[in-house]
Amino acid sequence: MKHLLSIEDLGGDGITALLELTDRFVEVSERRIPKVPALLGKTVVSLFYEDSTRTRLSFETAAKRLSADTMNFSVGTSSVNKGESLRDTVETIEAMGVDAIVVRHGSAGVPWQITGWVDCSVINAGDGGHEHPTQALLDCYTIRQHCGSLRGRHIAIVGDIKHSRVARSDMLAFVAMGAEVTLVAPQTLLPARLDGWPVKVSHDLDAVLPTADVVYLLRMQRERMHEMLIPSLREYTTCYGMTAERAARLPKNALIMHPGPMNRGVEISAEVAGLVNAVIIDQVKNGVAVRMAVLFLLLGSGYGLANIVDAVPTAEGGRQ
Ligand code: CP
Repeated sequence: MKHLLSIEDLGGDGITALLELTDRFVEVSERRIPKVPALLGKTVVSLFYEDSTRTRLSFETAAKRLSADTMNFSVGTSSVNKGESLRDTVETIEAMGVDAIVVRHGSAGVPWQITGWVDCSVINAGDGGHEHPTQALLDCYTIRQHCGSLRGRHIAIVGDIKHSRVARSDMLAFVAMGAEVTLVAPQTLLPARLDGWPVKVSHDLDAVLPTADVVYLLRMQRERMHEMLIPSLREYTTCYGMTAERAARLPKNALIMHPGPMNRGVEISAEVAGLVNAVIIDQVKNGVAVRMAVLFLLLGSGYGLANIVDAVPTAEGGRQ
């Protein structure tokens, strides 16, 4: 596998293998010195045309824990401001000798476009409202960590589905792993067409809560909205916000998740974000190990998927 562009590149079996590989990198991350020489001599560049805290820093941390060299590209201080095109930018970066480009861009499809211009691996770190495959992987890992498996679990994805790349990648991943997914949102925050999406739809969060094993809350993606889609944030919070009162109506041990950044007081209250079953910090923590697994899968030694787990440096070879 050379690129990770869509969660569909992996499918159910590929996601399962990736999560098993992630177990090994969780173990590495818990060592006194959380570093292995798996990608020594490789260079990973972060090419972010959109803001990021979690994805950018966790890819950088993941690459460093695998002993890869890293380069960071900031649009704000680059020659993009002098009019340099995306194509010239990626060809310039590749000429410096990189093995992987981790790209985030506001336009859907850019990571696919880049694969036509460069020979190195390309990882989609979020393209417009389209996909965010590594977010889906870390979300699957977190649910598996807390619930054992996704199979048969009822997962409610709540909020601005229309503009959310997380919702799309998560929905595809959760269904591939055997979960039942309900999208919960007002009609205006759902995609115009849901043909082929293997999910249920509800406009009534309170009706969904009693059967949800996981409630996955989404931020209002105001940077992608070109019109008023809800009467007011206050009204949205009244109908769809996760308050302590709503959290109390979830089944025992149900998880509350959020990809971040949170808008506390809008889609999630500060009190709910601090509950023990709100696993938002676990999602961030798992993001590093998941991205180590992704980088190892794409750049590590050319092993087949089935051999990768055994190829990871072990305690004998890698423990500090
Ligand atoms: N979840 C997520 O993609 O967060 P960032 O925008 O901070 O990377």
